[in-house]
Amino acid sequence: MPTKIEKDSVTGVDTTGHEWDGIKELNNPLPKWWLYTFYVTIAFAVLWWILYPSWPTRTGYFPGVLGSLAREELEPRMAAARAAQAVWLDRIAAADTAAIVADPDLLAFANVGGQAAFNTNCAPCHGLGGAGQGYFPALGDDDWIWGGTLEAIETTIRHGIRNNDDPDARASEMPRFGVDGLLTRDEIDEVVAHVLTLSGREADPAKAEAGAALYADNCAVCHGEQGEGVQELGAPSLANSIWLYGSEPEQIAQQIWNPRLGVMPPWQGRLDDATVKMLTVYVHSLGGGE
Ligand code: HEC
Ligand code: HEC
Repeated sequence: MPTKIEKDSVTGVDTTGHEWDGIKELNNPLPKWWLYTFYVTIAFAVLWWILYPSWPTRTGYFPGVLGSLAREELEPRMAAARAAQAVWLDRIAAADTAAIVADPDLLAFANVGGQAAFNTNCAPCHGLGGAGQGYFPALGDDDWIWGGTLEAIETTIRHGIRNNDDPDARASEMPRFGVDGLLTRDEIDEVVAHVLTLSGREADPAKAEAGAALYADNCAVCHGEQGEGVQELGAPSLANSIWLYGSEPEQIAQQIWNPRLGVMPPWQGRLDDATVKMLTVYVHSLGGGE
């Protein structure tokens, strides 16, 4: 491509000599303010290399003439923070959860520590602040599957639910009424109709009546006569508006056909004792503690 610098007839500016399909490039200089700012940033970078740790050398790195190391400055501050926390963590480890809740200072520390541990370990399933998501229950409401007292919450956290890692895990399994052929599809339809009436909803009266008998025989042992739920068995209430697996008739039928049997890992052994207690206190404080 021939490079021919010429004056552009319209603007009076020189061209660079580059030309593409008859379109010529003007040689406009960069704005002065831009250029000088650019030079300043280069000067700043050079100064920074000299003052602070920068270039690698054969044996290590150039430490910079200020000799400042952020890591070394941080270490004593971290040590001081750890020492300050240790006093509290020791007190929490030595107290039971009821004593922690009774002491305003311990309670304040435990709630903050519990929240941090919750966001790291529990929020992936239970949502930030225990808001619940998908098939993972909300922990901030006052509907408890396994119980919302301090002791019940602590047991749930320590041992988890239906896992194979902890022999003391909470366990109780709803039978697979459909899959194992304990109820026919029609019978499940009828039970669903009755379950709808437990939370005050409309259902086909004939079906609901047949369903009531099936419910008394098959479901009341775990969920209670009126569907109030039984915490010792981890059987949720069917008589309120809070549904883990969905409130629609098809979703209820799905659960009866093939229960999902939610699993939660145990935390005893993974988290230290003080952290488990702080989590218990925090979850209890979320709003619905019993
Ligand atoms: C892998 C997902 C998962 C993680 C992580 C998890 N959970 Fe759970 N959690 C569950 C499931 C599922 C249930 C409900 C199980 C069921 O009964 O059907 C549950 C139930 C609970 C309950 C009982 C709620 C009730 O109504 O009785 C508490 C309390 C709880 N979790 C606290 C925690 C805490 C605290 C942590 C963090 C240390 C945590 N969970 C971490 C899955 C999880
Ligand atoms: C052995 C005890 C047991 C029996 C019997 C039982 N359930 Fe359950 N049920 C549970 C447990 C435990 C859960 C929650 C656990 C899970 O599946 O994660 C549950 C959950 C449910 C749910 C979901 C609730 C929600 O919040 O989404 C429905 C609906 C339900 N059962 C209906 C029934 C019906 C209807 C019957 C009778 C045909 C029945 N159950 C029999 C233990 C039982």
